Amino acid sequence: MAMWAGRFQKELDPRTNDFNSSIRFDARMFREDITGSLAHAAMLAKQGIISREDLEAIQDQLPKICQEIADGTLAIDPNAEDIHMFVEAELTARVGDAGKRLHTGRSRNDQVALDIRLYLRREMEEISKLAGEFVETLCDLAEKNAETIMPGYTHLQRAQPITFGHHLMAYAFMLLRDLERLAQTRARMNYSPLGSGALATTTHPLDRYATAAALGFDGIVENSLDGVSDRDFCLELASDLSILMMHLSRFSEEVVLWCSWEFKFVELDDAFATGSSIMPQKKNPDITELVRGKTGRVYGDLMTLLTMMKGLPLAYNKDMQEDKEAIFDAVDTVKLCLETVIPMTRTMRPIPENMRAAAAKGFINATDCADYLAKKGVPFRAAYKITGQLVARCIDQGLTLETLPLSEYRQASPVFEEDIYQAISLETCVKGRNLPGGPAPDQVKAQIATARKTLAALKEEAHV
Ligand code: ARG
Repeated sequence: MAMWAGRFQKELDPRTNDFNSSIRFDARMFREDITGSLAHAAMLAKQGIISREDLEAIQDQLPKICQEIADGTLAIDPNAEDIHMFVEAELTARVGDAGKRLHTGRSRNDQVALDIRLYLRREMEEISKLAGEFVETLCDLAEKNAETIMPGYTHLQRAQPITFGHHLMAYAFMLLRDLERLAQTRARMNYSPLGSGALATTTHPLDRYATAAALGFDGIVENSLDGVSDRDFCLELASDLSILMMHLSRFSEEVVLWCSWEFKFVELDDAFATGSSIMPQKKNPDITELVRGKTGRVYGDLMTLLTMMKGLPLAYNKDMQEDKEAIFDAVDTVKLCLETVIPMTRTMRPIPENMRAAAAKGFINATDCADYLAKKGVPFRAAYKITGQLVARCIDQGLTLETLPLSEYRQASPVFEEDIYQAISLETCVKGRNLPGGPAPDQVKAQIATARKTLAALKEEAHV
């Protein structure tokens, strides 16, 4: 019989029991459930609500139950309604009345709100650690490639010369923002709902501050209705993770392009690429495609949560049981993606010759040619037009700006002199973009230093 069977005449219909049960997916919170129960029990004893003996019995058995679930000696009953009921029933089977007193002044509504927060807090620490590792990986690779010239793109058309290090650092800063967002979400989430009860607290003299402090919270949720019915932290986290996945997906898309024969800017390590069952020549970037694909899952999880919460009246509603599969899937997916993308990135081999060759085509120094004229007093719009005409002439004659004879330059404008070739060399173009944030090797090195400093600060304050 269910624990709440007092007012019922019949057993729950078996299919309805399956439908109603969340044990399949909430069993993973057993550690947090037990941690929360231990804090609640200690507070009940401190407040004189349960006896010292009851507390000792609870403190003796709950850690054992935790250990046994962890090592598999205690099997989770698939017919249990949820992890909270399962743990309480198991405890009661072992210690009798003390187990039955554990739930005094508590409801599964504040219990589950607590457990998810504790569970996600730990998962967020792991994700932050991985995101930090990815930032470090990007910084290391950028450092080695601070001078590696490649074409920068807009509209996927070659635009202006940059360095591979510059390109990688753009991703490092995206990931740093992800880390910051996770830290902010954690800060807003880190308040204890315990003591909210079913919705309206309790008449027992609980000490909410004591359990909040014991469980590492920064305070209590101030309103008990909000305490049991708020899932903002799930929405925020799913949104943080969606943005993070969008960043991984954009990076993945670039790696897919870079691995193609059309680009061949990088070669993936054999351990991080796959072959084809029929085409012997193939080496496919499946990992990055999967990351791109899995981004859709995480967006879907966010949409599930937003839709699930929309229009729910206060306070707890069973709809909210649907929060767990969505947010757990988002968390699992992000961890899986980061765990794979990091070593793939660490081992991927850039091919500077190919980047350089691509940079030498496509007139990516045309802006520099116009700037050359502008620096000699030609109004930029006029300089722009002259350069456009030169590019057209090059295309006609199968030349580049580097190989176009000086006579042709001078025909277009007498301002051109021999030093034009120096001005449009790719090295000059990259080194000359020496503003903060730019691709010049010194600037890239400065960006790496800033990123590393930001990461260290985040690690210090955000429990990474
Ligand atoms: N399994 C439930 C959930 O995940 C726990 C809370 C159930 N509360 C209730 N009153 N039925 O949301």
